Amino acid sequence: MVSDGVISGAQVREFYDAFRDSRMVRYRLKANLRIERAIERVSEYVHPGSRVLEIGCGIGIIAERLAAKLRDGQLWACDISPRNIEMARETVKSDKVAFFVADVSSGLSAVEEQLDGAVDVVVMIDVLEHLPRAIHPDLFTNLRRIMRQDSVVVLTYPSPQYQRYLREHEPRELQVIDEVIEVEELLCVAKAAGYSLRLFSLEDVWRRNQYVHCVFQSSVPVDRITSVSPTRLGKLFRRFRAVLDHRSRLTRSLRRSIVDDARGRSST
Ligand SMILES: C[S@@+](CC[C@H](N)C(=O)[O-])C[C@H]1O[C@@H](n2cnc3c(N)ncnc32)[C@H](O)[C@@H]1O
Repeated sequence: MVSDGVISGAQVREFYDAFRDSRMVRYRLKANLRIERAIERVSEYVHPGSRVLEIGCGIGIIAERLAAKLRDGQLWACDISPRNIEMARETVKSDKVAFFVADVSSGLSAVEEQLDGAVDVVVMIDVLEHLPRAIHPDLFTNLRRIMRQDSVVVLTYPSPQYQRYLREHEPRELQVIDEVIEVEELLCVAKAAGYSLRLFSLEDVWRRNQYVHCVFQSSVPVDRITSVSPTRLGKLFRRFRAVLDHRSRLTRSLRRSIVDDARGRSST
């Protein structure tokens, strides 16, 4: 369902209140590949101490998984639909997440009221295409106010190719607002708001090139690396362990051949 005219916040709220039961509860009952891939992507940026804001959190599935990664971090998760937030509060039992209702198409003051300072990561999983294109510039500009120097915005959304496919072949799959997000336009909007592109990737989910994963950063410094990031540390550790494993395999096989050799000599 996609409407041609101007759509009010109340209509959007009503649509997603109903969408909860017609679609979203299914994601709770059975893992969804799109969501799993999105969680994998966002997880690269969420560390135990991260302060995270999720916009359009639905019934809290992604928030719950991200919260499990936090130790002294915190997650704030909002949605326009009170029924979604109600279910999220009932099902997600974590003291790391605060769920609240907010319509971000009318500004970010409701979000700012909830936060107690800037965040490191802003997450929007399949949400940007459901916000009117006209508000994207203000949204990106306002988000900067609650971000730190090198905070990131992690977005996933259907690729323009897939949106066009849906319009032609499965228009009933479209939601009340369902914009086609062209990369050129998104880059202009993000650049005007002061972001740099950190990652852009066309992802195969159930179809080839179906989704876009995109990460913007409030600044991309090029200073020297003074500490090792947890990801790099993990990689170094795995490499070190592989070298050790290889060495002990070599030692064992050398020992075996010395013993075999000695046995061979004593029997001749
Ligand atoms: C396609 S669903 C995605 C839900 C969840 N992020 C996921 O990936 O399963 C889009 C979500 O954005 C929310 N949403 C739509 N317009 C919004 C707005 N103006 N402000 C806040 N949330 C909004 C909807 O209520 C809905 O939960």
